[in-house]
Amino acid sequence: MSWEERDRRAVWHPYTQAATAPLPLPIVRAEGAYLFADDGRRILDAISSWWTCLHGHGHPRLVEALARQAATLDHVIFAGATHPAAVELAEHLGTLLGLPRVFYSDNGSTAVEVALKMAYQYWANRGEKRTRFLTLSNAYHGDTVGAMSVSGIPLFARTFRDLLFSADVYDGEIGDDVAAVLVEPMVQGAGGMIVHPPEFLRALRERCRESGTLLIADEVMTGFGRTGRMFACEHAGIHADIVCLSKGLTGGMLPLAATVASEEIYEAFLGDAATRTFFHGHSYCGNPIGCSVALASLRVFDDEPVLERSRTIGARIATKLAPLRNRVADIRGLGSIQAVELRTGGDGYLASVGPQLFQAALARGVLLRPLGNVLYALPPLCLTDAEADHVGQVMVEVIDEVSR
Ligand SMILES: Cc1ncc(COP(=O)(O)O)c(C=O)c1O
Repeated sequence: MSWEERDRRAVWHPYTQAATAPLPLPIVRAEGAYLFADDGRRILDAISSWWTCLHGHGHPRLVEALARQAATLDHVIFAGATHPAAVELAEHLGTLLGLPRVFYSDNGSTAVEVALKMAYQYWANRGEKRTRFLTLSNAYHGDTVGAMSVSGIPLFARTFRDLLFSADVYDGEIGDDVAAVLVEPMVQGAGGMIVHPPEFLRALRERCRESGTLLIADEVMTGFGRTGRMFACEHAGIHADIVCLSKGLTGGMLPLAATVASEEIYEAFLGDAATRTFFHGHSYCGNPIGCSVALASLRVFDDEPVLERSRTIGARIATKLAPLRNRVADIRGLGSIQAVELRTGGDGYLASVGPQLFQAALARGVLLRPLGNVLYALPPLCLTDAEADHVGQVMVEVIDEVSR
């Protein structure tokens, strides 16, 4: 029996209606921008395997860091113990973000859960009643219950509505009961790669300051060069009070997340009363292997022109997409993230054109996974010019094919 058939009997996949989905791709190896299937197919991973893989699969420096750390210290409880990689990574992230306090967890959703609880308890510890969260329409912050509560894609959360806490959509007003406003800076990912002008982010920062509330920047997708800057907030020249990181944090090699906060927030949790403590943690908080690989990934930025590549790759894909301009609803992008919204398929995430585009791209050896009628590339930043051109070309070809 093939891997795909054995998978069908034993595995439950994310975001997959198994009753109708085609068999999963049996991937047995990955190198650079490519995935290799067990039937010999070589597939260009143009979505960085769910926006994780940053420098290409199996970057030798990350592999080396992983092996070295695994042999030295694989894991240690992170309550009441520490280790060099966690300290060094926290220092490095603090310097990059201008925020000094790093709380580790293990995925994007937990990074957001931590941010929500941190913001909520920050006000409670200060004795102020700020208990509401504001979010943007089309926001996506993850699939745990808190993260779902502040996400604005109805299809994903509809079934769980009664479980969620209520959050309001930011409309320019911020009441004095608001604990924090959440934003995916510059590009809203799962909502359809929606690009905001930097002025919007600057105005939001200003409104938060005026109303004394916290700004949480969810850079889980946008962080680490995807938008052509190290962090998307840099496009607007702003600093959030809390920043959520994951996905590209380890170059996409291991699950690790960080919620990075200001010293003022941290200090509100200090004191003699046990109730001031942040009672939150996960088994794999600060996993040493994840932290070491994250440090190796950051060093790649020092030695390779990653940000420049991000901008070049995006510009080349955009050049290929440009002739579509009059035939599609929108073409948009920032840095290496480039998207086309089709006029067909108004049923959002479930638009039937999505699976057609996916199959047409796969037939051309490129992995693209549309968000409904939005076809996008979010490739590893190791792509060569020729590969970037190829991704753009394939996007055009598959749009032509499904439009026929
Ligand atoms: C902006 C943003 N926040 C949070 C998440 C959740 O991350 P994870 O899937 O690792 O839980 C995602 C995932 O796509 C995301 O794009």
